[in-house]
Amino acid sequence: MRKQIAAANWKMNLSFQEGEKLLDGILGANIRLAPDQLTIFAVPFPYLLMARSEVGEEKNYYVAAQNCYHKKSGAFTGEVSVEILHSIGVTYCIVGHSERRQYFDESNQVLAEKVNLCLDNFITPIFCCGEALSIREADKQNDFVATQLQESLFHLPAEKITRVIIAYEPIWAIGTGKTASTAQAQEMHAYLRSILAGQYGQKIADGISILYGGSVKASNAKELFGCPDVDGGLVGGASLVATEFIEIIKGLKK
Ligand code: 13P
Repeated sequence: MRKQIAAANWKMNLSFQEGEKLLDGILGANIRLAPDQLTIFAVPFPYLLMARSEVGEEKNYYVAAQNCYHKKSGAFTGEVSVEILHSIGVTYCIVGHSERRQYFDESNQVLAEKVNLCLDNFITPIFCCGEALSIREADKQNDFVATQLQESLFHLPAEKITRVIIAYEPIWAIGTGKTASTAQAQEMHAYLRSILAGQYGQKIADGISILYGGSVKASNAKELFGCPDVDGGLVGGASLVATEFIEIIKGLKK
């Protein structure tokens, strides 16, 4: 069975001390994860080592970076490479969050380079896709996300695509309190799986985790994660509150 994943994206929030306290609170709940369930904390760069040590040897709990640079190394002041992340034991990285696409002009082509670097350095990319409200209103969301996958992922050979996690995050649902309905989420996730199947075959498509992101909270997680093609969530706001995120983890499919 493919992995069911609760991924926290703290974005640019919390002080170091608040972050430590939050992790203590969540890990202190001692939620025993099943072998195919994962919890991942995507924290700001300066907190990665702290988060790694908080998570320690806890089974199926991991730490992610929220971004990486699209070049291997060199004179890129202020940027963080995938090699640097790997050297401190980070094993996951969010790639192509809509906020990076929007505020930092990250193109599908640049994101393809980031995906390649991650996979070459033992880091699992959590690749984000999703449409803006205007695209959804024009009923063009399927074509839009298909292009995002085609241009950033479909150059990968089969043995590499199986190492990618996909997160569908409709922009109109991010931080708005407006969640996609279970029908909308399931429909898009099934569509994403169908285009993965078209490219790589059904067996490979069935093994790829597709997370939903956009106003996931304790009160709606279980229902969303219950959809057959929704394999967990990428959670912003609600991941900053221990009691909320604990319930979200508990909402993962068994
Ligand atoms: P919210 O859960 O705050 O809507 O954010 C979703 C998100 O962008 C996660 O990456």
